[in-house]
Amino acid sequence: MKSQHKCIVIFALVCCCAVLIALIFSAVDVWGDDEDNIDEAKCRRSCRVVLVENIPEDLSILYKDTVSLATGLRELLDQAHRSVEIVSPWWALNSTEYESKPPQAKQGQILLHQLMRLQSRSVSLRVVSELTNSSELKALSQNGAEVHYLNMTALTKGHINSSFWVVDRKHMYIGSAGMDWRSLSTMKEFGIIIYNCTCLVMDLHRIFNLYRQLQYKDFLPSIWSKKLKALYNRDKNLQLHLNDTEAKAYISSSPDVFCPKKRTKDLEAINRVIQEAKTFIYISISNYLPMLNRSQPKYWSRIDSMLREALILKTNIKVRLLISCWEQTDPLTQNFLWSLKTLCIESVSCSVEVEQLKERGRGNAA
Ligand SMILES: *[C@@H]1O[C@H](CO)[C@@H](O)[C@H](O)[C@H]1NC(C)=O
Ligand SMILES: *[C@@H]1O[C@H](CO)[C@@H](O)[C@H](O)[C@H]1NC(C)=O
Ligand SMILES: *[C@@H]1O[C@H](CO)[C@@H](O)[C@H](O)[C@H]1NC(C)=O
Ligand SMILES: *[C@@H]1O[C@H](CO)[C@@H](O)[C@H](O)[C@H]1NC(C)=O
Ligand SMILES: *[C@@H]1O[C@H](CO)[C@@H](O)[C@H](O)[C@H]1NC(C)=O
Ligand SMILES: *[C@@H]1O[C@H](CO)[C@@H](O)[C@H](O)[C@H]1NC(C)=O
Ligand SMILES: *[C@@H]1O[C@H](CO)[C@@H](O)[C@H](O)[C@H]1NC(C)=O
Repeated sequence: MKSQHKCIVIFALVCCCAVLIALIFSAVDVWGDDEDNIDEAKCRRSCRVVLVENIPEDLSILYKDTVSLATGLRELLDQAHRSVEIVSPWWALNSTEYESKPPQAKQGQILLHQLMRLQSRSVSLRVVSELTNSSELKALSQNGAEVHYLNMTALTKGHINSSFWVVDRKHMYIGSAGMDWRSLSTMKEFGIIIYNCTCLVMDLHRIFNLYRQLQYKDFLPSIWSKKLKALYNRDKNLQLHLNDTEAKAYISSSPDVFCPKKRTKDLEAINRVIQEAKTFIYISISNYLPMLNRSQPKYWSRIDSMLREALILKTNIKVRLLISCWEQTDPLTQNFLWSLKTLCIESVSCSVEVEQLKERGRGNAA
């Protein structure tokens, strides 16, 4: 009799635990992803890659081995049959809202119209953004787009600076350009479009879902859903073929609090890339300023010191930096660059070359 009671108590406890666990997971799993059932083993890893670039006209450099960003994105949208998911730091495609408009500014409007027409092609459009009052996002949602608002101030006191697309969970774009007409005309931008690559795109889609899950939240969950954890990371790369060339890939993310289990953080990924370099490290970036908060400046040494370590410890390493130079460039940039170059003066085992790209618009590069 006694042991029967015990059994019942234990059984009840087990049931309670199970219900609790189920509750916890269902709470976290707001976006139970119906379609996310693509088998990891069966996903596609023979992919086509297209490098996309925007070269401002006044630079008079020709496209070589790359496609213009406007063309690349248009072709990517043409491939969409089911869904397009976009994360962009800002939305400013409709250049008529700006005073001076070069003729290429039209590209932004063309893209915006193409996005507005998606619904008529029965393709759903989902956008994650921190903008509360964007006329373009309003126009898109009037045309059937789902716009998910993220309060980044509440979540991290930061901003969304990611910019990527997931199309049909099969194709992707990731790069420096956001949804800004200047990125399609006056700014230097670089990115990559990958087709037919469900393995990798599935993982990027998880990052999109993570953002989407945070909509209207003002705190971060302490546990993330299992469906948001990374599929590949720096210790478990995805083996794939990019245009018939064998390659390895994974997607990293930041800030750290946006990285569920197994997701490699951006800084760790950058560190790994620099550490594995044997002969050269080429970097293209808009600003080289290892500083935080310029009103009360703080030296932020992480990446700067990775480069210094590489220059000092690696034999025969060549570092090349392509940095944009415009009115807003902090003069301190030059000092940091000189300081890096100084490390290799009279050294035969390292070299630092810096190229500064003068531009009218903001330079951006990945
Ligand atoms: C990959 O192949 C496609 C066509 O098959 C081509 O358009 C593209 O430029 C190639 N990508 C690279 C990086 O060579
Ligand atoms: C929102 O945008 C409209 C038009 O762009 C503007 O008139 C209005 O003042 C904005 N509202 C807020 C709260 O910023
Ligand atoms: C683009 O700008 C023009 C002129 O300001 C305006 O008439 C049009 O409604 C805008 N389109 C969208 C989609 O916001
Ligand atoms: C975002 O969060 C901040 C801080 O919690 C709050 O003051 C602000 O009103 C929120 N913004 C919106 C649009 O909800
Ligand atoms: C990130 O986004 C915010 C808001 O859009 C912008 O002010 C900031 O300059 C961006 N940071 C970088 C490094 O691009
Ligand atoms: C993707 O794969 C499909 C089916 O195998 C093929 O028809 C299509 O041309 C491919 N797309 C690209 C851009 O390679
Ligand atoms: C930057 O520093 C100023 C001055 O100390 C401070 O008021 C401000 O909150 C800081 N901003 C951030 C984003 O940390």
